[in-house]
Amino acid sequence: MSRSERSARPAVHRFWEGTGATKTFTHPLDRGLLEQYVPRDSRILDYGCGYGRLTAQLVELGYRDVHGADPSRALIERGRQEHPELPLAHIDGLPLPFEAGSFDAALLFVILGVVTGDEDQEVLLSELARLVRPSGVLYLSDVPLQSDEHHVRRYEAASAADPNRPYGVFSTPDGGLFRHHRPEELRELLHAHGFEAVEERSTPTATLHQGETTRSVQVIARRVPAG
Ligand SMILES: C[S@@+](CC[C@H](N)C(=O)[O-])C[C@H]1O[C@@H](n2cnc3c(N)ncnc32)[C@H](O)[C@@H]1O
Repeated sequence: MSRSERSARPAVHRFWEGTGATKTFTHPLDRGLLEQYVPRDSRILDYGCGYGRLTAQLVELGYRDVHGADPSRALIERGRQEHPELPLAHIDGLPLPFEAGSFDAALLFVILGVVTGDEDQEVLLSELARLVRPSGVLYLSDVPLQSDEHHVRRYEAASAADPNRPYGVFSTPDGGLFRHHRPEELRELLHAHGFEAVEERSTPTATLHQGETTRSVQVIARRVPAG
């Protein structure tokens, strides 16, 4: 399958149509960071919105033009039940049906943490670079590599089982597949796709839907104007 065919219809990990769609997501949004960089009249894409947790939070904060999109049918159906007023779209594949440069900002919360392949991440970032207007903002938050013994053992076991996997990719007993990154990797990935990190914060604790407590990283990046 060619890269463009694959990007047009990425395989949604079965997990996100089953067990993953029943979880409660808790990865924290830093309200101060959001408000500092994203004005209230912005048009915002919440990519990988799940059941619309953050889409709803943004609307509660007074953002009026927020669009959620996610490839999991189960999660979007759940979101429509929980928040019938929100524009949550089930979109299984890229490119997304939006005009180039039509968003002032995009949220990408715990998506690079579940889109684990290097090439899939590149396709995803290229699409966000297409959608966010020059000088617009990408607010990315994800789970960095953890240094505690439990996680290190988990990364090492996964690497030993499959040395071709990037370090930090691991499976969970309930069938999930995740990737934790070094924060520098995230910055480099953003840079390679025309986004410059302008602010980065580390949040001491975030409870993941697997019930584990971890650190999270929040990055605000600006879309560099072409030329
Ligand atoms: C941990 S949840 C985070 C949901 C939401 N961003 C939040 O923070 O509440 C991961 C989400 O990634 C979505 N997902 C899985 N594969 C994806 C892909 N290839 N592209 C975009 N989203 C994907 C899942 O359906 C799920 O909604």
